[in-house]
Amino acid sequence: MTRDEQPPGAAEAERLQRLFRFFGATQGAGRSPVYETLSEGVAGDPSLLALLLDTPEEQRRLSLLFAAVNLLLASRRGSELAAYYPIHGGRRAVDDQLVSTFAAFCGRHRDELACLLSQRSTQTNEIRRCVALRLGVDHVHRHWPGPVALVEVGASAGLNLLFDHYDYRLNGEATATPPASSVVVSCEVRGSSGADILRTAPEITRRIGIDQRPVDLSDPDARAWLEAFIWPEQIEELATLRGAIDLAASTAATKVVTGEATMDTARILTELPGHEPVVVFTASLLSYLTTRARSLFVAQLQEASRRRPVAWVFTEAPGLLATTTLDLPALRGPLARRNSLYVVGASLCGDGQRHDQLLGLADPYLRWFSPARDPLDDFPWMPPD
Ligand SMILES: C[S@@+](CC[C@H](N)C(=O)[O-])C[C@H]1O[C@@H](n2cnc3c(N)ncnc32)[C@H](O)[C@@H]1O
Repeated sequence: MTRDEQPPGAAEAERLQRLFRFFGATQGAGRSPVYETLSEGVAGDPSLLALLLDTPEEQRRLSLLFAAVNLLLASRRGSELAAYYPIHGGRRAVDDQLVSTFAAFCGRHRDELACLLSQRSTQTNEIRRCVALRLGVDHVHRHWPGPVALVEVGASAGLNLLFDHYDYRLNGEATATPPASSVVVSCEVRGSSGADILRTAPEITRRIGIDQRPVDLSDPDARAWLEAFIWPEQIEELATLRGAIDLAASTAATKVVTGEATMDTARILTELPGHEPVVVFTASLLSYLTTRARSLFVAQLQEASRRRPVAWVFTEAPGLLATTTLDLPALRGPLARRNSLYVVGASLCGDGQRHDQLLGLADPYLRWFSPARDPLDDFPWMPPD
């Protein structure tokens, strides 16, 4: 049968199969034995793929399926499947029963899963990405000393807005003595000692998140959905997330407003009081935007920079950044094809001038960060992913 003769939906099923296999090989491998095995298992089981194929196209996300199952497991800790999930108290090692146990669980809860998959959206708040924000803010501070306002677009629950309230541990070494925060952000620094890459953050005058579907931390269901995106083995990450949620819930310093990146960013930036520069942070936002929407978003930042300096600090996939107007020569080479990694950088816009800078390469979840050795570095010295 040629591709043109395939039954409707076959091409979409193939696309999802590729997605699961890519995720299993590039993200699950070495980090999550459960998700590595389940990615292959879902790719090879039409009834599991059908769970996603039966949802609207924009809902067909691998992360949604894994989170929906994880959410159900949180209230079924005694189930056979939960036994494989350390975050739910499970101790069973991955074995050849995992995929069939997962399939049986999905079969029993098919209606609940169908409901979650059609109605919910991906809601992660990855606190480790604050490492990218800190590096970006340091860079901005070197060019524009003094206080800055902070806006995150695609902020989810807004937990990254409190980046300067967390402790950072680089290569296992604490960067603050004594620890000032119960929320500890750990990151491995590759290709550098890691010493002194984080400086003291400047004063943050205000902290605002923009999200088209903000997470309301006062809603226990919304908190549980956020926690459902934590991977089965990530006990430490779950504790960090819960600590950050508690901190955010106890302060009025941040707020997340409902807004759309390509339509509301310039207006919200313009409405901010004061004249200090604004750092606009995005972390894993561009994958939600079409190529045209990405250009519109960058245009919003440029429009806002006519009134006050605006620095875009980002940690995003290089291939997506390469489709914007960023002037980063490294993105014109092989780096733009390394989409299983993220590029951390900053684009400073003010007084009619723009200065774009590549700061480093990172794992999408900032489990590791590798500082650029020079502004044109395209990381040929980094081993392939
Ligand atoms: C993967 S999450 C990342 C959250 C956070 N930046 C982090 O790194 O932890 C992406 C967020 O972007 C939001 N989002 C997606 N498309 C958007 C858009 N067009 N405008 C505003 N927010 C959007 C989603 O609702 C979601 O909260």
